[in-house]
Amino acid sequence: MPARFTRRAFSAAAALTAFGAPALPATRWMRPLASSTVISGFPDDFRWGTATSAYQVEGAAREDGRGPSIWDTFCATPGRIRDGSSGETSVDHFHRFTEDVALMKAMGVGTYRFSIAWPRIFPDGTGAANPRGFDFYDRLIDALLAAGIEPYATLYHWDLPQALQDRYGGWEGRDTAEAFGAYAGHVARRLSDRVHSFFTTNELMTFVEHGHSSGIFAPGLKLPTSRLNQVRHHAVLGHGLAVQAVRANARRGTKVGPAENITTAVPAIETEEHIAAAERATRELNAGYLTVMMEGRYTDGFLAGAGANAPKFTPDDLKIISSPVDFVGLNVYVPNAYVTAADTPQGYTLLPMPTSYPRMASPWLMLGPEAMYWAPRHAAKLWNIKDLYITENGTSAADQPAADGLVYDVDRVMYLRNYLTQLQRATAQGIPVRGYFLWSLLDNFEWADGYTTRFGLVHVDYTTQQRSPKLSASFYKEVIARNALA
Ligand code: FCB
Repeated sequence: MPARFTRRAFSAAAALTAFGAPALPATRWMRPLASSTVISGFPDDFRWGTATSAYQVEGAAREDGRGPSIWDTFCATPGRIRDGSSGETSVDHFHRFTEDVALMKAMGVGTYRFSIAWPRIFPDGTGAANPRGFDFYDRLIDALLAAGIEPYATLYHWDLPQALQDRYGGWEGRDTAEAFGAYAGHVARRLSDRVHSFFTTNELMTFVEHGHSSGIFAPGLKLPTSRLNQVRHHAVLGHGLAVQAVRANARRGTKVGPAENITTAVPAIETEEHIAAAERATRELNAGYLTVMMEGRYTDGFLAGAGANAPKFTPDDLKIISSPVDFVGLNVYVPNAYVTAADTPQGYTLLPMPTSYPRMASPWLMLGPEAMYWAPRHAAKLWNIKDLYITENGTSAADQPAADGLVYDVDRVMYLRNYLTQLQRATAQGIPVRGYFLWSLLDNFEWADGYTTRFGLVHVDYTTQQRSPKLSASFYKEVIARNALA
């Protein structure tokens, strides 16, 4: 933990009252607008949620028969995590979920996106399921439903059972994709009585590239291109197999789709020709991920670029990968590139990103709210998607508690207000975004950054596990209550 954070203990009760008088009096921040002055509303059935993932929040790494994941192994390897920490205890969501559900309820949150830890259900990756692995999710789901919060479960948020890394070389082996399908079917059969929406995989692109190319995420590999392309292929294949397994095993009406961090090209100038160029660029930049998932083909540019290193695949693989989905989740944090039209075969130029581009607390987190408009607009247009969710958006911030013990994260509020303004621009134009999951409900284990960066609406004191809503929680509560920005 960085020394710059001064921590104070908060009681949970004080935390909950932080949403209204007396701790944070409504009049200080929340002067109600007359309804006639609300000009930027969201659709009536828009769903407001928060998001977390198993390894980042649960802790309880050895409870109820959970097996080790590649992240347990990675964290135990010296030098991999910035502060030498791990998700072994994290913010103890496993034991404190009742309080966390109450925090969501107090915010007015209607949906919660969490992930299921594969190594809790299949400690050995495949074979016999561990029945106790479901106990926590049963309790969590029941608590959510009792609070009027709809559960959205992600099946894979990067915590591959270590056994599959050892046995099949993880995602290098096609068997891992097959095992993922079997696990997905098992979970869907068991939970679809109460969970009606499943996300297959979270950010294939991030875990494939960081885990197998730069090596900064588990399993920490730096593979040559041909093997890397095979990992990419197996990852999208795993998504497709999971879609099919959910369809085959879940109750009727269960919905399924991916949650992917689309690489978003923003038109540098909003004219027709640059917008068309940005669409072309977005299609090409996502060639190995969303594009093949939505189109069932690798683009000519992708295959030409890969040459002899192209992945090995069959036409049948492409059909599986592009199995029809019910919705697509987009994780949107940054504009990945600014684009202009070009008179070249590819039809666009990726402009150099200036070093002066503004950034939030994490060096990768460029402040580009317009990504929140262009990401769903391009996706809907390119792939004719009828139902989109923003499955993640949020920011890290320094989050130092002030003298009164509260966190006044005006930088996060600024970030959210600007991104949500662009999301409202999208929904007002009929771009079919049905809901938004803010990353994250709580401060948590941020992968290779450990606990050095905070993304939560709720501050967590990692020593006492005290939860304290930040100013951004009050902001979000107001947005939800009004279903609008001011
Ligand atoms: C996303 C991840 C999520 C979290 C946020 C900050 O890429 O899906 O787990 O790390 O970034």
